[in-house]
Amino acid sequence: MNVAFAAPGQPKTGVLVIFCPENKKLLGVAADIDKRTGGHISKAIKAISFEAKREQILDLVAPDKVSFQRIIVAGLGDPDKIAAREVEFLGGAVAGYLQSAKVESALIAADIPVKDHDAATLAALLASGAKLRIYSFDRYKSKKSGNGKGLASLTVLTSQAARAKKVFADYQAVAEGVHFARDLVNEPANKLNPVEFARRVKANGKSGLVVEILTPAQMKRLGMGALLGVAQGSANEPRLVVMRWQGGKRGDKPVAFVGKGVTFDTGGISIKQAAGMEDMKGDMGGAACVTGLMLALARRKAKVNAVGVIALVENMPDGNAQRPGDIVTSMAGKTIAVLNTDAEGRLVLADALWYTQDRFKPKFMVNLATLTGAIMVALGKEYAGLFSNNDDLSQRLYEEGLATGEKVWRMPLAPEYDRMIDFEVADMKNIGGRNAGAITAAQFLQRFVNNVPWAHLDVAGTAMDANRTSINQSWGSGWGVRLLNRLIVEHYEG
Ligand code: BES
Ligand code: ZN
Ligand code: ZN
Repeated sequence: MNVAFAAPGQPKTGVLVIFCPENKKLLGVAADIDKRTGGHISKAIKAISFEAKREQILDLVAPDKVSFQRIIVAGLGDPDKIAAREVEFLGGAVAGYLQSAKVESALIAADIPVKDHDAATLAALLASGAKLRIYSFDRYKSKKSGNGKGLASLTVLTSQAARAKKVFADYQAVAEGVHFARDLVNEPANKLNPVEFARRVKANGKSGLVVEILTPAQMKRLGMGALLGVAQGSANEPRLVVMRWQGGKRGDKPVAFVGKGVTFDTGGISIKQAAGMEDMKGDMGGAACVTGLMLALARRKAKVNAVGVIALVENMPDGNAQRPGDIVTSMAGKTIAVLNTDAEGRLVLADALWYTQDRFKPKFMVNLATLTGAIMVALGKEYAGLFSNNDDLSQRLYEEGLATGEKVWRMPLAPEYDRMIDFEVADMKNIGGRNAGAITAAQFLQRFVNNVPWAHLDVAGTAMDANRTSINQSWGSGWGVRLLNRLIVEHYEG
């Protein structure tokens, strides 16, 4: 979908979207049209008792006296209670309606009375929400859904068109990162294996990202026995991909993001049940988020040094697969008894986390992983689980979660839980028993983190088969790209 910004005023034709607050006081372009048509819009609103609740829609044939064919009134609710995030969601809801109404091109009059936000930002937020919403994964449909091209063009009318365009450029970069992450999660595992994933990351080189791809031989030399143990049952080789963006001051410590990238998780020899196993194509949602984020940072030329590390493996049962009870040695030198081959994400991340802190000495490290079913038992699909050794980083993630709608809820870490993964004949085991499954998984990861501020986001509930929202209708949500981008914007840039 193409987005443009223009000044209101010059006569326009086609489909126009206007906003109406709960108190029905029309503003700007909407008020102007209402006046010129002898109150046509006010009358329509009254006639059907349109309440103008947030995201409610009233679709009207335009009256004779205006150049438009169709006027769509979108409810604002109480503008005094609308937050920036909700303006973005409103843009998404409007775009979703236009798409379902088979509108291919539309204008939006961005007259929204929101305190503390200038007109340019509001216009850009509307466009951002629309951009995020207009996404579909139809690569494997021989007949594309519906006829026509969908919503192909959106023009936002604002008195500050030039500034809005500038603000939107950054939002667009982020939306592209989100779409890229969604594509990766939606791809089936026969199309997206570790080698292909790495290739797609590398293909983004022209964005300015520096991409390195480590092969199994290199990982072996580094001693990544935990990661390689997971990969050994698959005909598809693993890859460790390092993405670097140097937009900050030279010599400034980077911020680091690490992603679990299991392109398919059968469970290995501890094989999963058949029902729902197809969802495990999304077990690389953490890696997809890191990739989308790094792409967004590069595209918007963020003033920060950042590294993204993704560990890509396929977890398969096979004659060469690791067995329950096998003991592997991680890059950290710690030994792990693999009591359940389905608890593979933590094994892969153990080496990826150690490698990242060892090589890059980052300012902080955030990892994302579709790590446990247990986090969904605790939090459902509304919040991702947050585990951290640092209160400031946790607070920031919590706040930016609320600001973006990608919410996180902090869970405990404690020595009592850590003890649950001790093991007689190795340094640790990779499962903790029936209780506190998401926490013991996090404790496991923490054993591979030294003194660096670190947060682990368990995104099993949010990265795939996510709640559908006004800005996302896709199975693979791209969750986390907006959250982590905002974390950087608010606290680590400039
Ligand atoms: N990838 C799964 C976790 C998962 C489950 C993500 C459902 C999304 C939806 C992970 O590798 C796994 O299998 N975890 C096990 C751990 C257990 C064996 C200790 C789990 O959660 O059951
Ligand atoms: Zn698993
Ligand atoms: Zn997994």
